[in-house]
Amino acid sequence: MMLYQAHRFAIAPMMEWTDRHCRFFHRRLTRRALVYTEMITAAAVLRGDRARLLAYDPAEHPVAVQLGGSEPAALAEAARICADLGYDEVNLNVGCPSDRVQEGRFGACLMAEPVLVGDCVAAMKARVNVPVTVKCRLGVDDQDPEEALDAMADAVVAAHGDALIVHARKAWLEGLSPRENRDVPPLDYDRVYRLKQRYPALAVVLNGGIGALAEACSQLDRVDGVMMGRAAYREPWRLLDVDPLLFGEPRPATSTRAAAEAMIPYIEREIAASVRLYAIVRHMLGLFHAVPGARAFRRHLAEEAVKPDAGIDTFCTALAKLVGGARDMGDMAA
Ligand SMILES: Cc1cc2nc3c(=O)[nH]c(=O)nc-3n(C[C@H](O)[C@H](O)[C@H](O)COP(=O)(O)O)c2cc1C
Repeated sequence: MMLYQAHRFAIAPMMEWTDRHCRFFHRRLTRRALVYTEMITAAAVLRGDRARLLAYDPAEHPVAVQLGGSEPAALAEAARICADLGYDEVNLNVGCPSDRVQEGRFGACLMAEPVLVGDCVAAMKARVNVPVTVKCRLGVDDQDPEEALDAMADAVVAAHGDALIVHARKAWLEGLSPRENRDVPPLDYDRVYRLKQRYPALAVVLNGGIGALAEACSQLDRVDGVMMGRAAYREPWRLLDVDPLLFGEPRPATSTRAAAEAMIPYIEREIAASVRLYAIVRHMLGLFHAVPGARAFRRHLAEEAVKPDAGIDTFCTALAKLVGGARDMGDMAA
């Protein structure tokens, strides 16, 4: 059933969250999860501050870039630039419902234009050798998810897309905010299972509402991969069990604390390059689960790491608030 092992477990693209610091941090917890950038528009790749927008650390591999756009030639050129920079996959966003995105005629509103999505995928595939994938919804507004999702899959398959990642709920383009669109429309995993049955040769990745790794594992009987978003970000301690539970490999760090300590050289390097401490450690606030001192760790960072001159000492002081040395709390222990 496994077509594309890279997708067995992925951490979702999340604007303002999965920046390069976040991805580097998550990589201290799992070697195997596929990590995604925030959505970057094709226009920004072509005309923006490319070096800043697309910067990543080699340790982040495997790392996928998510593009937003609907113009095949621009997406193809943006994809080529990303592939040349070494990104391991190019993903097209067909799921974001924000107004800004709708004005640009991309994101979730492309659910209504599967032929155009196919053209975009085909154009990107023609320019890059890395996998090209699509992340979509079940449908938008009053679309029938049975038809809309199959139409999208037909287009992706015809264009030789490498995987379809499905956020298993509809999006309402009018009336719901982007945040409400992540919670209010009901999840329908069965629709995604039917998709996989109907397209056995297409790698299908399930996304939406997965809260624990045990849940992710059980989904793998029915789909090729699972993508976890908010739970991975808010409760990163869960990621420490990704490699053993989903890939049968040892953890990259013996404990969440060891993973935090492994961030120290990176933090020092980035601070030397004028990055603010908080820009990095804000992603780490939820790292410690059921560890005595976790609250003091979080509070110290929230209060002290925001100060302009905060440095590695601030981080080390926060770590020292943990009681009892290395603890090994992940999903398996929880
Ligand atoms: C803060 C935030 C930002 C997001 N930004 C993106 C994005 O840039 N591209 C995208 O495809 N999905 C984005 N999403 C949606 C997630 O990728 C994912 O589909 C959604 O959160 C459902 O998965 P979850 O229930 O595991 O969080 C975002 C979600 C959140 C919470």
